[in-house]
Amino acid sequence: MTNTSSAERADARHDRQSADDGSGLVLADLRVTYGAGATALRAVDGVDLSVPRGSTLALVGESGCGKSTIAKAIVGLAPSVGGQILLGGMDVTTERGRSAAHFRRRVQMIFQDPYSSLNPRMTVAATLDEALALHTGLNRVDRRARAAELLDLVAMSGTGADKYPAEFSGGQRQRIAIARALATDPEVVIADEITSALDVSVQASILNLMREIQARTGVAVLLITHNLAVARYFSHRTAVMYLGRIVENGDESLYTAPRHPYTRALLDASPSLAAHREDRVPLAGDLPDPHDPPSGCRFRSRCPVGPLTHQDRTVCIDREPPVVDPAGLAVACHFPPEQPAGR
Ligand SMILES: Nc1ncnc2c1ncn2[C@@H]1O[C@H](COP(=O)(O)OP(=O)(O)O)[C@@H](O)[C@H]1O
Ligand code: SF4
Ligand SMILES: [Mg+2]
Repeated sequence: MTNTSSAERADARHDRQSADDGSGLVLADLRVTYGAGATALRAVDGVDLSVPRGSTLALVGESGCGKSTIAKAIVGLAPSVGGQILLGGMDVTTERGRSAAHFRRRVQMIFQDPYSSLNPRMTVAATLDEALALHTGLNRVDRRARAAELLDLVAMSGTGADKYPAEFSGGQRQRIAIARALATDPEVVIADEITSALDVSVQASILNLMREIQARTGVAVLLITHNLAVARYFSHRTAVMYLGRIVENGDESLYTAPRHPYTRALLDASPSLAAHREDRVPLAGDLPDPHDPPSGCRFRSRCPVGPLTHQDRTVCIDREPPVVDPAGLAVACHFPPEQPAGR
């Protein structure tokens, strides 16, 4: 890295920070609908979340609950987005219209399958050079230096910048995808199931790498995963999603004293997190048809402490539970436990 380009990047970062209130990514009443009319599917239905700079928020929930749709909405790939998406205090739903390239630079996404997200006909060096040429003002020499720096950041220096994706292992490919995402010096990285396709032995090294990168760059990370153990160990907060809504949002206490029956059920279904619990109630049944969610509380058709077992709890059928805010003050249940569950 030459002095000039380091200075340029520092300037760019400074410009950005002066326009940035440090709040990172904030979603306010986010709504995403697929289709229209009778077949409309409200995949995300009033979600409030916050990922401050330098922190990781894990988003968990069963397949089909709307996690990836939130990610798509943030990067501008979802249809009919309502509510607000704030980045550094600015509403990017309007900013994106003004400057799509600038927005893409600020938020980067890493996918589950690096093999399909990397161009098989481009070497690692060419892949990184393309991203740097598109998103930075660096000249060719500085781009090469920055690419080497990025490979160093993901512990891939000296591993063959002139090789093609097929010549690497799955874990190495994911490291390359991370390096490419970091090429734009983003404020937010969305990691959607980035270790799900990897061997268990490799998963932790990739997640540890993300943590190290966060410590060095201050990037905000939205970690989407169906694995609660991963969420617990690699995030500062966790938001639990069910059928388009957040039902609980908490820190470590979400794992030690979960308040929503769905959170409890997910933990009970997670072998490594529930092993010591004797009163486990594994989750029964499948997600209801998302086109026609239950009235009142959407979890009521599966809830072990709702109207299925307590006939007097008709409020669960009649009234929607409270909305969960990013601070996790509320839980989306009419009957959360009075006392911590004592896990
Ligand atoms: N492009 C699409 N068109 C219509 N429905 C979709 C589309 N993408 C996702 N869905 C539906 O939206 C819901 C949420 O999906 P998704 O966000 O992928 O969930 P998750 O990532 O939690 O598995 C599911 O019911 C899914 O079938
Ligand atoms: S509101 Fe009722 S049905 Fe919903 S989670 Fe709470 S107890 Fe269960
Ligand atoms: Mg998904």
